[in-house]
Amino acid sequence: MRLLVTGGAGYVGSVVAAQLIEAGHEVTVLDDLSTGHEDAVPEGARFVRADITEAGQALDGVEAVLHFAAKSLVGESVQQPGLYWANNLGGTLGLLDAMRDHGVGRIVFSSTAATYGEPERSPIEEGDPTRPTNPYGASKLAVDTALSAYARQRGLGAVSLRYFNVAGAYGRFRERHAVETHLIPNVLKVATGERESVSVFGTDYPTADGTCVRDYIHVCDLAKAHLLALDAVTPGEHRVYNLGSGAGFSVQEVISVCREVTGHEIPAVVGDRRPGDPAVLVASSARIQRELGWKPERAALRDIVSDAWGALSGK
Ligand code: UFG
Repeated sequence: MRLLVTGGAGYVGSVVAAQLIEAGHEVTVLDDLSTGHEDAVPEGARFVRADITEAGQALDGVEAVLHFAAKSLVGESVQQPGLYWANNLGGTLGLLDAMRDHGVGRIVFSSTAATYGEPERSPIEEGDPTRPTNPYGASKLAVDTALSAYARQRGLGAVSLRYFNVAGAYGRFRERHAVETHLIPNVLKVATGERESVSVFGTDYPTADGTCVRDYIHVCDLAKAHLLALDAVTPGEHRVYNLGSGAGFSVQEVISVCREVTGHEIPAVVGDRRPGDPAVLVASSARIQRELGWKPERAALRDIVSDAWGALSGK
């Protein structure tokens, strides 16, 4: 298929774009490089450096869009909510209009576990309440709502994939954020010597060891779900799928695995809780397994960390 991948110079977008090309698709990457890197655009993709508000220029002949371009930091969204509403909601509504104008009726959208907010139960299922606790999650949920409406009203075909904690690497494609907030890359930066220690944000949560529990999914498993979702997009339907590995690991457990994988002692310093962090976030991915036949293949935390470490350290 001829595909447009917005945000294809970013972490998840570049891995998915690479896998789409390997699967024989024709890919155009649209990215403004505000957080992405031009050298992450995979070989074989056409690259258009532009904002999503200018996506129309890249939509001629396109059969489907995979939409990753977004602002994605929870903390920043609390500081600058307008940026998140304008970019994530406003930008996407503009993209959907441009798609309509160009006769493009299929989209796979990067949604997030942050749409659920503080969960009532674990693992979280897609029908559970969505009560986001920050503008990032709220802006993504608003897009999910719009996709449902456009599917009914305009016959759009859409799949929203709600990512839990994405980590790992695909060959050279890895996480590279100017401001790194995520746990695994921050822990590994201690092993490379870029940081002296890692902060553990709170040890007084109601979990076995007192630190927050998250569901880590390998970026390659996540990418495979996009290829399945693309095949499943059906005009007039909006489907929502959670994507996690289904197992929860605490911050302390993640640090322990990183110590094992790197052989580095990785000093950890206990700090205060980070505002807005739910104690436990674990996905039920039963729906996508049942409906699309998705199965995580690198779900073990050790594999996820090993691949992230390999890409970072060149090992
Ligand atoms: N943490 C630390 N030290 C760090 C970084 C993180 O202790 O240096 C802790 C956090 O407090 C949290 C856990 O490690 O308990 C995971 O934190 P991340 O920042 O790696 O990931 P989040 O769970 O906060 O966020 C992820 C995605 C978001 C998404 C969210 C869903 O990155 O985009 O899940 O709630 F919104």
